[in-house]
Amino acid sequence: MARVLIIDDNDTMREGMAVTLKKQGHEVAAFRSGAEGIAAYQKRRFDMVVTDLRMEPVDGIEVVRRVRSHDSEAVMMVVTAHGTIETAVQAMQEGACDFITKPFPPEVLRAKVEKGLELSATRRQVQKLSAHVEALSQDAVRAAGSMVGESEPVQKLLSMVRKAAVSDATVLIQGESGTGKELVARMIHEVSPRREGPFVVVHCAALAETLLESELFGHERGAFTGAVRRKLGRFELADHGTLLLDEIGEISPSIQTKLLRVLQEKELQRVGGEETLKVDVRVLSATHRDLKAEVASGRFREDLYYRLHIVPLVIPPLRERPEDIGMLARHFIAKHGPKVNPKVKGLSDDALLALGRYAWPGNVRELENAIEQALVFAEGEQLTEQELPAFLHGPQARAAHAQGALPIPHGDRPLPDILEDLERQLIERAYEKAGGVKTETARLLGIKTSALYYKLEKYGFIQKGEGGQTS
Ligand SMILES: Nc1ncnc2c1ncn2[C@@H]1O[C@H](COP(=O)(O)OP(=O)(O)OP(=O)(O)O)[C@@H](O)[C@H]1O
Ligand SMILES: [Mg+2]
Repeated sequence: MARVLIIDDNDTMREGMAVTLKKQGHEVAAFRSGAEGIAAYQKRRFDMVVTDLRMEPVDGIEVVRRVRSHDSEAVMMVVTAHGTIETAVQAMQEGACDFITKPFPPEVLRAKVEKGLELSATRRQVQKLSAHVEALSQDAVRAAGSMVGESEPVQKLLSMVRKAAVSDATVLIQGESGTGKELVARMIHEVSPRREGPFVVVHCAALAETLLESELFGHERGAFTGAVRRKLGRFELADHGTLLLDEIGEISPSIQTKLLRVLQEKELQRVGGEETLKVDVRVLSATHRDLKAEVASGRFREDLYYRLHIVPLVIPPLRERPEDIGMLARHFIAKHGPKVNPKVKGLSDDALLALGRYAWPGNVRELENAIEQALVFAEGEQLTEQELPAFLHGPQARAAHAQGALPIPHGDRPLPDILEDLERQLIERAYEKAGGVKTETARLLGIKTSALYYKLEKYGFIQKGEGGQTS
């Protein structure tokens, strides 16, 4: 049994249609004005709407329009008088799926309503399926690059990555160092229709201008001294795939101009070459700089910026999503544990707190390094606070954190002070780990025992003169 909404200001017509459809076993609600009908639909969805066209003040076209804007999947049929086909056509354009011309026998109404209800069922099914597909592809995005994080900014980012992936637009990925820009670029490629094609990265900052030019566009033999054979550029290598221009903020004005031309014309010439090559490449770019500010200061071409910036993605720094730290730490234990220290399975609450206290200027990469380092020292199944790198634990780290001073220098403490502090912490850790055995401590630190005595005295771990005996 389906629910059908009938709207007709003619009592005879309305009641006649209602009787016909009720006889067929459907639940029917009938109204004599467009406004009442629309209100009823908005209160609860119907499987189908049958509405008269000529009504005052709200006509059938208006009913179709308003119901459709409330529910884009609504199935509607309009009832027209003989000779008003144009209006029926208009109603179809507004979203009605069928029309019926007065007068009509009950069988015709019945047949058309059955057809409409079938369409309605199919539309609902598709709606459900596409919600399902949506959820699935979200998982696919995650699986592709294993982007870890449950925080709201990461969730938002993932949904934007999914949208960006299905299009072929250029994407500009902005974020501080170590936030995962390359990871995001890979994910976009992996879920895009180009996933079967190559993913090619150019680290723009690493190369001098002339090298970068031939890296990007290739060169012909003899193009310059040392060009002993033809070299294909990264654009050519990325044909039918994706090209990531990493650290795009670092490229020179002349390369900016050349790049703009390639993006506009989708064709290029190798350095020293005549031939024009067509390339089919999706370009992604990444930078830790504020590219808009670079444009404002005249260091980056505005037209190129707009070409690259069609879809902008910003990855927030780790300090703005501290709730991801625990999950990331566990992820990195699982990632590196098996080869570095397979017995470690997790981390202690103290260790987690220590990780949470730190500001992570190097973002996820710094966290990953810290975990890898801790795994080397770890002795039990859980990483402890003591096993974390020195800058993360101990009273100094806490005090430093409280002042917001360590490890990002603020200019309020000279570097030698900070280094002494670190040295003291490292010595303390090694001394503890060695159980107070000085030769072992020296071995852990990779220094001579005599040098260790000097430092132990300097930092007050032992009294002057104690250096005579070995323990
Ligand atoms: N959300 C995350 N989940 C899992 N791993 C991550 C995440 N973010 C970053 N990483 C990992 O952190 C490391 C650094 O990421 P990536 O190289 O993508 O950063 P980046 O922004 O390109 O850094 P840089 O500016 O230094 O080039 C990589 O090993 C990456 O796999
Ligand atoms: Mg990078």
